[in-house]
Amino acid sequence: MEKLVEFRGLKFYQSEFKISSDNALFFDFVRLPKGGVAVELGAGFGLGTILLAKRYPNTQIVAVEYQKPLYELLLKNLSLNGVENVKPLLCDVREIERCLPPQMADAVLSNPPFWRREYLNPSTKRSEVFVKANYEVETEYTHFLRAAKYLLKSHKEFFFMFNSKRLDEALCRLRELKFAPLELRLVFPTEGKFSNVFFVRSKLGGRGRDLKVDYVIGSSPKGVKGKKAQKG
Ligand SMILES: C[S@@+](CC[C@H](N)C(=O)[O-])C[C@H]1O[C@@H](n2cnc3c(N)ncnc32)[C@H](O)[C@@H]1O
Repeated sequence: MEKLVEFRGLKFYQSEFKISSDNALFFDFVRLPKGGVAVELGAGFGLGTILLAKRYPNTQIVAVEYQKPLYELLLKNLSLNGVENVKPLLCDVREIERCLPPQMADAVLSNPPFWRREYLNPSTKRSEVFVKANYEVETEYTHFLRAAKYLLKSHKEFFFMFNSKRLDEALCRLRELKFAPLELRLVFPTEGKFSNVFFVRSKLGGRGRDLKVDYVIGSSPKGVKGKKAQKG
């Protein structure tokens, strides 16, 4: 069921895959150049792309999404919010070479599906769209890292959100692909709990010897107001 919600003065149609505070915090962490081209890999219904397009009106953002239902919500949300500096692209990151030229981006960002396939309980009733958005059933995060590397110009930045339980392996994969982590933000759901997600800013081809680390304590998404969308 589609639902129209308001968030930070913008309107979004969302479905079972919803606005989460962690995702919103990630887009606050992202800093784009004030011009040039940025690419979001796995844009969903457009939350991050649209927040960033409004924050950086002179930057062209390419929003890559491969699930048709989410891509259609993305198109709707772009027009609902009068966004003009975004190029939506129905494309699978595993085939990024077919969709976009190499080294075309001044920044790339992504929060890919990050729950391991084996955590998917087959008896849980979740839509295919939700499962593909959250679990590594088809695409692994390393596909997103490789796509980011393919798209980025040398010494440009990649912003990545992932599961804190997999922090060590993700930082190693980034290093292997020649991304130097520069800034790491740990997110804690509440005080006293383990971190659930982290954000990292890295530079392709950088040296990155001094990693800055900070943290934020998240919460349920503040300021989401909504109602079920009328059909037709
Ligand atoms: C965790 S969601 C994040 C969505 C969005 N960035 C947000 O914060 O609302 C991951 C997104 O990646 C997309 N995705 C998964 N595999 C993909 C692939 N192979 N190619 C393109 N997008 C993919 C999913 O459909 C989903 O929209």
